[in-house]
Amino acid sequence: MIVKFRNKITVRLLISFAISLFFSMFISILVSRLFLYYIDLNMIETTPTFASVYITIEFLAIISSFIACFLFLIRKKLKYIKHITESVQQIANGNLGLNIEVIGKDEITQLANNINIMSKELENKFHHEREIEKGKNELITNVSHDLRTPLTSLIGYLDLLKKGEYSPDAKYNEYLEISYSKSQNLKFLIDELFEYTRLSNPKIQLNISEVNMSDLLEQIIGEYIPIFGREKISVQKKIDDEATVLIDIEKVVRVYENLFMNVIKYSVKPSTLQISLNKQEDDVVIKVINQVEESPNKDLNKLFDRFYTGEKGRLSNQGVGLGLAISKRIVEIHHGEIFAEYENGLLIITVKYALKK
Ligand SMILES: Nc1ncnc2c1ncn2[C@@H]1O[C@H](COP(=O)(O)OP(=O)(O)O)[C@@H](O)[C@H]1O
Ligand SMILES: [Mg+2]
Repeated sequence: MIVKFRNKITVRLLISFAISLFFSMFISILVSRLFLYYIDLNMIETTPTFASVYITIEFLAIISSFIACFLFLIRKKLKYIKHITESVQQIANGNLGLNIEVIGKDEITQLANNINIMSKELENKFHHEREIEKGKNELITNVSHDLRTPLTSLIGYLDLLKKGEYSPDAKYNEYLEISYSKSQNLKFLIDELFEYTRLSNPKIQLNISEVNMSDLLEQIIGEYIPIFGREKISVQKKIDDEATVLIDIEKVVRVYENLFMNVIKYSVKPSTLQISLNKQEDDVVIKVINQVEESPNKDLNKLFDRFYTGEKGRLSNQGVGLGLAISKRIVEIHHGEIFAEYENGLLIITVKYALKK
């Protein structure tokens, strides 16, 4: 593109220059003819004074006709350059995304084109930055609120303990117990937040290795069986033998832990938890299906929003709403898919990863 336009403006300027030169010579001839004509008619005297006046007039005629002609020939280009200058000024003043009209086919057109690209790019960057900024502000607001609530009550209990405002033994232990569990909640929340912000970093590094997803899933289920048993959740599995994937094991384990912890917290008890792993074309599809009293939300995508806890999570004080947001982020950085569906009292969470080819 750039090569095609090269020298166009130089050629044009040279041609305009040549035409202007010819034109001014023509004017000069015309002026001398005129003088000669009047000299012939004896209307002008040929004195030395006249000679210097004549030379001056001739000279002025040549210069002014050259400038006039040259400006006339390049007037469109000049107007266009002025237009570009004004547009750039507007962009500089904050009118990002402004599009300069593209006229002609020379270097100036190229310049206008490049300015347009730059302007669009600046606009995109600006919007992107603003989105990030907005997200961060929201996060900080939510975090401050979520940190303050348990911390305030923790301080309350510690204050009672400090002042000795408790009836002997029983209350002391109770307050201590509450303080301890609140501190743990706080630690959990901070850990989750840390994990979430770490995963939100676009430059996050994955520690990828080749894994049989079936074995991995069996292993994690094995670890959770005692807890499921205690919570009166029986497990029904249907897991295909072999499903090789390329994943960051530590992170993917986190996804299953989140899903199983949710089942423990939010499933109807006693009930049955169904876990399946199937190979479907190029994907491995994992489903975690548990019984619920009702759909957690009309829009099940909301479950994956950060800080979404739903009625149950909020009331029982069991959730901070980051588990599924973290899981989604992890699945996405593996180029997989995670979504929720509700069907006849069952909440179905589906996770898909690409199989190793
Ligand atoms: N297996 C599940 N059964 C029922 N509801 C669920 C389940 N998993 C998630 N939810 C709902 O989605 C919300 C968000 O889940 P999550 O992001 O893991 O946050 P948290 O576990 O901290 O509440 C939960 O508070 C709950 O209302
Ligand atoms: Mg959770």
